[in-house]
Amino acid sequence: MERREFIIKSGVVITAAALLSAGHPAIAQTLSGAEKPGEKRNKKRPDPHRFSQPIMKAIAIGLNAPSPHNTQSWKFKIIDDNSMLFYVDREVLLPATDPPSRQIHIGAGCFIETLAIGITPLGLTADIQYFPEGYEEADDFGIKPVAEIQVRQADNVAVHPLAPYILDRQTNRRPSTGEIVKRTTFEDLQAMAGEVHSKVLFFNENLNTFKDIFYRGLDIESRTRSTNEETRLLFRFSESERAEKGNGLSIPQMGYKGLMAKIVEMSVRKGDPVAWHKSSTIDKSMKHIKKAIESTKGVVIWITETNTFKDWVENGRDYMRFSLACTARGLYLHPYNQAIQEYAEMDDLRAEFDQLIGVSGTQKIQMVVRIGHSSKPYYTYRKSLEDYLM
Ligand SMILES: Cc1cc2nc3c(=O)[nH]c(=O)nc-3n(C[C@H](O)[C@H](O)[C@H](O)COP(=O)(O)O)c2cc1C
Repeated sequence: MERREFIIKSGVVITAAALLSAGHPAIAQTLSGAEKPGEKRNKKRPDPHRFSQPIMKAIAIGLNAPSPHNTQSWKFKIIDDNSMLFYVDREVLLPATDPPSRQIHIGAGCFIETLAIGITPLGLTADIQYFPEGYEEADDFGIKPVAEIQVRQADNVAVHPLAPYILDRQTNRRPSTGEIVKRTTFEDLQAMAGEVHSKVLFFNENLNTFKDIFYRGLDIESRTRSTNEETRLLFRFSESERAEKGNGLSIPQMGYKGLMAKIVEMSVRKGDPVAWHKSSTIDKSMKHIKKAIESTKGVVIWITETNTFKDWVENGRDYMRFSLACTARGLYLHPYNQAIQEYAEMDDLRAEFDQLIGVSGTQKIQMVVRIGHSSKPYYTYRKSLEDYLM
């Protein structure tokens, strides 16, 4: 608490980094986004301008990253104006849906990469040391840092070409429109995303096989009480609840719009457990999900050779760069990770999917997404920056 007050109050100190940041052409867009008139989206997320310390600006930028179920399982122990220890939040894991916390750590990788790319227009670069205190087992989650991150001003820091897309990147669960995504488009995205740790596969043929796996995976997740309950607990049922909690999922995030979103929100009765778990509620949700699945125009899959903590974090960084490249090209991603999740009810489908993709031994499919064009989705909140400080 003391540390938190110190950080916020000491925000008035103007550092060289803060001064240097003024006036750079790419900065205005990275930090404030290409906000359209009438849009309130910038009020939904921490504003890097509020802070003068480089590390606080860097965190505010990193918080725009995606995370599983929008958990934002990120915690920061500030060391000084330029450095911090970065942890996952052990209070916000997904034990039913993500038993090993693999996806939580992919979300940590997404945060790191968003930060590393997003600070370049400030003339800053990040030194990132993974697991500085070791990281052996689940008991270390939230106790030992995932990384020590130090930002520093450096001469001739090149603005990362993906930096301008950080605020515009969004997960999109709405149906895809237009043509099947071409392989040349995927190759262009891969080139923009740069060097990768994971193997990245692209499919734009035999999509019915993927659609079937996506549907069955979501059906299992929805009809398994523990995973469906985990989603309910992270669901926000009104705009005021979304604004107040700043994390989690909601009906608009599922792709519903306008009056329909309001009607569906009412039908789940503010998350009343009986209404939520009723098979008729799940049937309706699956009908809605099917429309988006049926619209699939391409599938991208990330695979690692081993399945270590570092693989998870590196995979998140790969996923982040690819996501930003998609934003740059007007494309959206929608993960369908259900069939790769590691709980008993999913074992058979996971094995079937692994076999289909040809994954065996220590290899692991880390992310599976639908890629395509779509209409603009609901813009998600983040918690206020102070809520993530330790
Ligand atoms: C590791 C990881 C796994 C995810 N898995 C899913 C998924 O299976 N289904 C889904 O609809 N969204 C998935 N998402 C997307 C998140 O729900 C989304 O990032 C979050 O709600 C914040 O929204 P935004 O990406 O628009 O900022 C995943 C994101 C990450 C980082």
